[in-house]
Amino acid sequence: MVQAVLFEIEDNVAVLTIKSPPVNALSHAVRSGIVDGLDRALGDDDVKAVVLIGGGRTFPAGADIREFGHPVQDPWLPEVCNRLEMASKPVVAAVHGTALGGGFEVVLAAHYRIADKDARFGLPEVTLGILPGAGGTQRAPRLAGAKFALDMMLTGRPVPVTAPGAKVFFDAVVDGDLRKEAVAFAQNLISEGKGPRRTRDQRIGFEDPHAYQNEVTNRYRMVARQQEYAPEQIIRCVEAAALLPFDQGLAFERSSFQDCLETSQSAALRHAFFAERRAGKFPELKTGQARELNTIGVIGAGGLAASVAVICLQEGWHVVAATTTVRAAEHAASEISKLLGGAVMRKHMTQTEADEALARFTTASDLVALSEADMILDCTIRPPSAKRDVFTQLDAIAKEGAVLVDAGAHSKVNLLAQATGAPGDVVALHLYAPLRVSKVAEIVLGGNTSEDTVATVISFLRKLDKFPVRAKNEQIGPRILAAYRLAADYIVEAGGTPYLVDQAMRGFGMNLGPYQALDYEGFEASLSAQGSACRASHQPDFVGRLQAAGRNGARSGKGFYLYEGKPASVQQDPEVIELIRAYREENGIDPRGFSEDAIRYRCLAAMANEGARLLREGVARRPSDIDTVMIHAFGFPRWQGGPMKAADNAGLLHMKVELERFAREEPKFWTPDRIFDHLAKNGKVFDDLNTQ
Ligand code: CAA
Repeated sequence: MVQAVLFEIEDNVAVLTIKSPPVNALSHAVRSGIVDGLDRALGDDDVKAVVLIGGGRTFPAGADIREFGHPVQDPWLPEVCNRLEMASKPVVAAVHGTALGGGFEVVLAAHYRIADKDARFGLPEVTLGILPGAGGTQRAPRLAGAKFALDMMLTGRPVPVTAPGAKVFFDAVVDGDLRKEAVAFAQNLISEGKGPRRTRDQRIGFEDPHAYQNEVTNRYRMVARQQEYAPEQIIRCVEAAALLPFDQGLAFERSSFQDCLETSQSAALRHAFFAERRAGKFPELKTGQARELNTIGVIGAGGLAASVAVICLQEGWHVVAATTTVRAAEHAASEISKLLGGAVMRKHMTQTEADEALARFTTASDLVALSEADMILDCTIRPPSAKRDVFTQLDAIAKEGAVLVDAGAHSKVNLLAQATGAPGDVVALHLYAPLRVSKVAEIVLGGNTSEDTVATVISFLRKLDKFPVRAKNEQIGPRILAAYRLAADYIVEAGGTPYLVDQAMRGFGMNLGPYQALDYEGFEASLSAQGSACRASHQPDFVGRLQAAGRNGARSGKGFYLYEGKPASVQQDPEVIELIRAYREENGIDPRGFSEDAIRYRCLAAMANEGARLLREGVARRPSDIDTVMIHAFGFPRWQGGPMKAADNAGLLHMKVELERFAREEPKFWTPDRIFDHLAKNGKVFDDLNTQ
């Protein structure tokens, strides 16, 4: 059996190397290996100090998340940390890669810490709905003060070891052979006669615990995400660190950790973590090889084309932006340099990087300029026949093996592929706004898309730090969104108000309610996206009515809400209520009331039912892919796990029965998909379909 922790001795120093690829997660085998290695080192009179280091690409990136939800096997991570801290010989943690979560808690428990200059560390447990449960909430504030520790724990963001404030954790940051440096550091400790230095004995930042409680934790309490359970528990643990003796603080942390772990929020967040990673697995790719990308071609003069060009330039590619007129080319060039200027202003890149990016950028008023591009993204939205023409032209212009991508939504990838002589090179990509921020993109395959093309697009997206999700023939996100919006419209038609629907869905955790989102999108954009609407025999056209009354969304000052006056003052508008009332009267609808819970349930059921259709039609591969899209593209609350996970939690049998009841009003839309029957009859949930 391969040992998870290697034990070696180098001149009086025991070196424990963790070898558990890919990220050295602190599984049972690793925890046991550390404890065994430590015992061996402490029992050997020749060993005077211990170095703990990660093998391969990183120091442990945390507890093994796959073990959560199963009975814990001894030794627990808190015990491992305590044993390291209580060791009678000095323990040095040597950090490279990403020391995260439990991995960083091990670092905090060590007596001395050195790091490679490129290493990062953090306590991202909050992103999994839990808190650092191996002493992190007690030790981190003892070393760095409560403010820094809370920033780390409440954002979950990794921190570079060279960041301001990070150096309190590390005795040395080194550039070179980390293992060699760590052994030398340990030998220095031995020769200077330095023994263990225990974090539990430190009190930095806690001189006046009560003042600290009022000024620090209460301030964080105001800004912590209110709907999530873990942030408040983290704050309470840091208060415990300030107010209680160390061991009592640890006990408090342990019970809070257990509480968090048992919440459905944590289960949903862990689901989201694995869903994102599973999405990028394309089992059908057997021999596909990503082609090399040096130059990216971008077609279009609109916002999408400019954003695509800029993120490609930021990644270091050469970019050729092509349009069909000189004016459009000039416009594209000016947009791109404006965006680069904005990126410099927001400190996303330096002026030198922006200048270098501009030097890699060319613009042209003719598609012929794209002949050297390795991948061409058409970012225009045009009628299918015009799109076909563009792809036929590209077929003649592009070099052999260039990947041709339709990145303007709503076109049929198979039609475009047929317009070329190399249908295997054609694929569609659904990118989501804001492009720099959104972490997901759908790769829409046609019937003939080749493995190499898919592999190339996956590697392109990974470079852009996006989770690739496979879709077949059409996109996933717009279909779920259309179902959600239609469910909302049916609620408003039957008696709800847009304001109540928005309030209910914000209560569910959406960033914006569906009508606020429509306002911000602008009604013209939403109407042009109607091609993606899902099946229904009737669609109440509230947007059309509002448009007829001179309302076009937030930018026009009026949509479902009023945006007049100060930008922040968004108001409900009686005129909208009146327009909807008139609509109901014309259609003989007797309004009825909806509770917020009923609204949330209907919207969720509509999304899950559309998701089931997408799975049956083969558009989506797995329920968790749908969850990943909805979380990253449309602000579906991550702590609800995505619509398919949330439907599982709500109970599929109950949801099927409710869908059947709603179907009496609008059968085509609400009738539960066959997948509901199948899962409910077999006592299964969507999650059971999340195979690799
Ligand atoms: N446990 C189990 N598996 C993990 C893992 C973990 N903590 N972290 C990563 N993995 C797995 C991933 O699922 C993935 O597996 P597959 O290849 O089978 O899909 C593999 O490791 C590689 O991960 P990524 O694809 O994410 O690789 P990356 O290079 O893009 O990112 C990373 C590496 C930054 C470490 C990222 O994986 C990450 O952020 N991991 C989670 C870190 C984390 O949340 N740690 C805290 C855990 S909770 C904890 O520690 C609680 C406690 O206090 C006791």
